[in-house]
Amino acid sequence: MDSVSPVSVTVAEIHGATYRYPVLVGSGLIDQVGRRVLKFIRGKTCALLTDSNVELLFARRVNRSLTSAGFKPTLITIPAGEKSKTLKQVGAICEQMIIAGLDRQSFVIGLGGGVIGDISGFVAAIYHRGIPHIQIPTSLLAMVDSSIGGKTAVNTAEGKNLIGAVHQPSLVIDDLNVLKTLPRREFNQGFAEIIKHAIIADAKMFKTLQSWKARSSRQPLALQSLIKRNIKIKAAVVARDERDRSGERAILNFGHTVGHAIERAGNYRKFLHGEALSLGIVAACAVSIKRAGLAPGQRDAVIDLLQRFDLPTRMPKNFPREKIFKALKFDKKFEAGKIRFVVTPRIGAAFLTTDVTLEDIRDAVGEL
Ligand SMILES: NC(=O)c1ccc[n+]([C@@H]2O[C@H](COP(=O)([O-])OP(=O)(O)OC[C@H]3O[C@@H](n4cnc5c(N)ncnc54)[C@H](O)[C@@H]3O)[C@@H](O)[C@H]2O)c1
Ligand SMILES: [Zn+2]
Repeated sequence: MDSVSPVSVTVAEIHGATYRYPVLVGSGLIDQVGRRVLKFIRGKTCALLTDSNVELLFARRVNRSLTSAGFKPTLITIPAGEKSKTLKQVGAICEQMIIAGLDRQSFVIGLGGGVIGDISGFVAAIYHRGIPHIQIPTSLLAMVDSSIGGKTAVNTAEGKNLIGAVHQPSLVIDDLNVLKTLPRREFNQGFAEIIKHAIIADAKMFKTLQSWKARSSRQPLALQSLIKRNIKIKAAVVARDERDRSGERAILNFGHTVGHAIERAGNYRKFLHGEALSLGIVAACAVSIKRAGLAPGQRDAVIDLLQRFDLPTRMPKNFPREKIFKALKFDKKFEAGKIRFVVTPRIGAAFLTTDVTLEDIRDAVGEL
């Protein structure tokens, strides 16, 4: 990536019935945050929320850029990792913001992966009953998925993302350069969400990914257009069903019913989210063959594509499968005992159905 010249900034305009915000995608944006934010925000004080890994890498540069543009940022750092996504942490962050004198005119910047995006968004949603939120996602997963759509949340002992709010950001800034320091496993897991988007909405992107060369996957021009494409796919689905009411937004959960259960069964340690999702996608394809007429050859193409990005498509032999079924019951998609499951009839399309039985899911997991 270093040998290639930086790409210029492109903008994806996101809008729904009640919101509108731009996503800037380019290289070198980390050092331009201050002047970019000036165009969108009137307040001067802000919380710059980040995690312990990202702080060391980028916080100083963002801080400097904000200060030079006349902002007064208060840096708040929380320990890296999913375990920080708690109400307790939200309380501690809000306390620090109060002590720093942040008020209704202030705003929150989340600088980090999906964990930071989710918790900073939730803080922004509740602080003084809601202040603006700016996302600077630093993981591929956060760029193509969690920073778009306005869902914010924290976890409880009972499950993930059970407490949260819908709070759309005012601005999202994706600097491709920050991905250089992302560990390979983290980078690859972003592709699970990208492949999911291709399966549910974009057969052409699926083809592009099939010819994607491993070495070019960090090439900025290719990444820029891929990230922008994924932002648009997610934003279009969200715009049709922002609050997840009509079932349209639910298609973004393709692969997630089983994926979440696998994540939980592995105590959130064995698999990264994208890795568990990869297995969940394979299971959802098996269910789709049975319930939606997916051609087995297409399922094989999906498996092949996931493997290209070193994502798991089989479960380790010693994995406690029974735990997966126990974990399934906690899934929010099992509303009133009824299973709502997203299937794909062919690559590029998906729909929500209630025709799937627990037995179908059990069989699909058994095949993993
Ligand atoms: N709100 C939504 O719509 C939505 C959608 C998908 C996922 N999520 C949430 O996102 C979270 C997962 O996101 P994630 O995978 O980004 O996790 P994460 O935020 O924990 O980041 C993964 C790891 O990479 C590190 N990191 C981040 N950027 C880096 C960089 N540029 N260089 C080096 N290290 C870097 C982080 O410190 C962390 O250790 C989950 O909590 C999930 O629930 C939310
Ligand atoms: Zn996901």
